Amino acid sequence: MTGIPAPRALAPAPSLRWGVIGPGGISERFADAVGRNGTQRIVAVGSRSLDRAEAFARRHGVDRAVGSPEQLVSLPDVDIVYIATPHPSHRELAELALEAGKHVLVEKPLAVTAADALAMTRLGRERGLLVMEAMWTRYLPQADVLDQLLGDGAIGEITFVSADFGFVAPDDPTSRLLAPELGGGALLDAGVYPVSFIASVLGLPDDFQVAGTLAGTGVDDHAQLTLRFDRALAAATTSLRSALPVRAVIAGTGGRIELDPPYIRPSSMSLSTRAVWGPDPEAARWTDDALPGPYDALYYEADAAARYAVEGRTESPLQDHERTVGVIAVLEEARKRLGAR
Ligand SMILES: NC(=O)c1ccc[n+]([C@@H]2O[C@H](COP(=O)([O-])OP(=O)(O)OC[C@H]3O[C@@H](n4cnc5c(N)ncnc54)[C@H](OP(=O)(O)O)[C@@H]3O)[C@@H](O)[C@H]2O)c1
Repeated sequence: MTGIPAPRALAPAPSLRWGVIGPGGISERFADAVGRNGTQRIVAVGSRSLDRAEAFARRHGVDRAVGSPEQLVSLPDVDIVYIATPHPSHRELAELALEAGKHVLVEKPLAVTAADALAMTRLGRERGLLVMEAMWTRYLPQADVLDQLLGDGAIGEITFVSADFGFVAPDDPTSRLLAPELGGGALLDAGVYPVSFIASVLGLPDDFQVAGTLAGTGVDDHAQLTLRFDRALAAATTSLRSALPVRAVIAGTGGRIELDPPYIRPSSMSLSTRAVWGPDPEAARWTDDALPGPYDALYYEADAAARYAVEGRTESPLQDHERTVGVIAVLEEARKRLGAR
């Protein structure tokens, strides 16, 4: 039985000075995470409302609060900007920050359309600045464990990947999840995780099929994609009205790796090198219990972004621009085929 390797150790990341735009739900968790872990420092926060920025700054011990994204990106002591606003504003805010000479870590999905994502990545390249999608799952230690296993051919040729992410969203048509003008829909909010996970294992698909349903607001609220690769298939499921398991499986000609729910955060996995179906009592297991809370793990992506920015990279070596844009192109085409708004 092949064992499961430990994640490779990383030197402490260089400490950058961060500005946050959009002091909402995920920014709260991001600020908590980097405040408790790693080497990054949030020095400023920008909101469309100075009051909200000041309240966030007080909660997180941030020195500066400003009342507009424009003011935030013009601060000379900010090196990198974390953009955590609704998806349709990502491109405009990222471009604002890049034009001001700041690196950007942009919440998932990087953009709503592939054309927008491409424009952002091109601007970053032109300016020699990092543009990175905050796909935090890709920067977890378990992703490195998986990279090592797959690189070693632990389960032979990979022939199938399945991954899901979905949940039951509150039935509020004005919410970010359901309102078309806020970039609502299961595919953009949650489906980006399984499609991105599949792409991290198999690359971009040759083609795909999709089935799905629409919510009353016209956004997609349930979708199933079958993705075809040269010699492999993958299944991605997402939903805003199913309590999905949030599980991922990679199957090959020589065994299977199963990531336990919820694999989008620090999780555990098993490796079976038996090429037969059913439970394997001898499967190797690995659990990531390094951090006290699941959202503490948001600091890994921040540390990674700081490393890449200081190394002079304009894209993440773990998820390059082509892959980021390609995943968004799949989500965009799937939404189009479903007739989603
Ligand atoms: N990585 C993760 O686990 C994770 C989890 C949740 C969400 N996200 C992503 O993070 C992003 C934000 O989600 P959230 O749940 O944090 O949303 P949220 O709680 O609604 O917060 C978004 C913030 O953006 C600002 N904002 C709202 N509309 C805006 C607009 N049109 N233009 C500029 N700023 C605007 C608001 O701050 P002000 O009004 O004060 O400016 C608001 O507090 C989304 O892209 C989502 O996909 C990621």
